Amino acid sequence: MGLLEGRIAIVTGAGRGVGRATAALLAKHGARVVLNDLDADVCDAAAAEIAAMGAQTLSVPGSVTDPDLPERLIADAVDAFGGIDILVNNAGFIWNSAAHNHTDEQFQAMLDVHVAAPFRVLRAFAAWMRPQAKREIEASGHARCRKVVNVSSVSGTQGAATQVGYSSAKAAVVGMTKTLAKEWGRYNVTVNAVAFGYLATRLTQGFGETPPTIDVAGKALRVGISNEATEALVAQTPLQRLGTAEDGAGGIFMLCIPQSDYVTGEVLTCSGGA
Ligand SMILES: NC(=O)c1ccc[n+]([C@@H]2O[C@H](COP(=O)([O-])OP(=O)(O)OC[C@H]3O[C@@H](n4cnc5c(N)ncnc54)[C@H](O)[C@@H]3O)[C@@H](O)[C@H]2O)c1
Repeated sequence: MGLLEGRIAIVTGAGRGVGRATAALLAKHGARVVLNDLDADVCDAAAAEIAAMGAQTLSVPGSVTDPDLPERLIADAVDAFGGIDILVNNAGFIWNSAAHNHTDEQFQAMLDVHVAAPFRVLRAFAAWMRPQAKREIEASGHARCRKVVNVSSVSGTQGAATQVGYSSAKAAVVGMTKTLAKEWGRYNVTVNAVAFGYLATRLTQGFGETPPTIDVAGKALRVGISNEATEALVAQTPLQRLGTAEDGAGGIFMLCIPQSDYVTGEVLTCSGGA
C-alpha cells in the first residue's frame, strides 16, 4: 500500500516543472490528485499522463490569481473526491530586473501570484476544512492530519539580486506559513514551506545569446539563466549540480507523508546545500 493511499491532494502550477513532478510523485504513492495550471492544455495533458499511470486525477485549469479560482478549486476537489488532505501552493513565475527598474506592475504581479493567490486558496480551503475538522473531532476526538506545503525560495530566505519583487513575495510566504501553522494546529493541519535553490525547470533554463521568454497573461517575460551564471551556481553548490524538478518534488513530498505529521511551521531548504 502506498504511503498516501486514500489521500486527496491539490497541486497548483502542476502543468510542468516542480508542480507536475509533485503531482506525479503524490499519485505514485497512492494519492488522488487535482491539478491546476494557468495553461489549460499542459494541465489537461499532465492530468491525463498521471491518470495513465493508474491514478485518479482531475484537471482544474485557470490562473490562481483569478478571484473565483480558489473557491472553484476547493469545491471541485471536494465534489470529485470527497475531501482534501494535501494542498501544495506551487504555481508561480519570475519577473526579474534590478530593483531600480522594477515597475509597480511587476512588483505587484509577484505579490499577487506568490502570496495573495496562495492566501486566497488557503482561505477557501479553511472554509471547508474547519467545519470538517470540527466534525471529525466531535466524532472521534481528533481530526485527520492534513498537510499544506507552500513553495518559497532561497531568494525569499536569503535574497537574490534582480528579484526584489519575487524575493519579497517568497519571504512573505514564510510568514504566512508560520502564522497558519499556529492557527491551524488545533485542526491537525501541518503548514510548512519549501525554499528551493536553483532547480532546472522552464524558469531557469539555460540560454546563450538570447534569453527565453514565457507567456504569462499575454505578457512575454524573460526567464532563464546564462551558462556562466549556471556554472557559478553549480560551483557554489556542495552537491555540485542544479536540482531537478523531481528533487523539488522530493522536498515537498517529505512534508506530505504521515512520517512528518509532527512537523509544522518549518521551512525546508531544498538547494543542494547552496
Ligand atoms: N526553478 C527554480 O529554480 C525555483 C527556485 C525557487 C522557487 N521556485 C518556485 O517553484 C515553483 C514552481 O516553479 P518551476 O520551477 O516548476 O517553474 P515552471 O515554470 O516549470 O512551472 C510553474 C508552473 O506554474 C504555472 N503558473 C504560473 N502562474 C500561474 C498562475 N497564475 N496560475 C496557475 N498556474 C500558474 C505555470 O504555467 C507553470 O506550469 C514556483 O513557485 C517557483 O517560484 C522555483
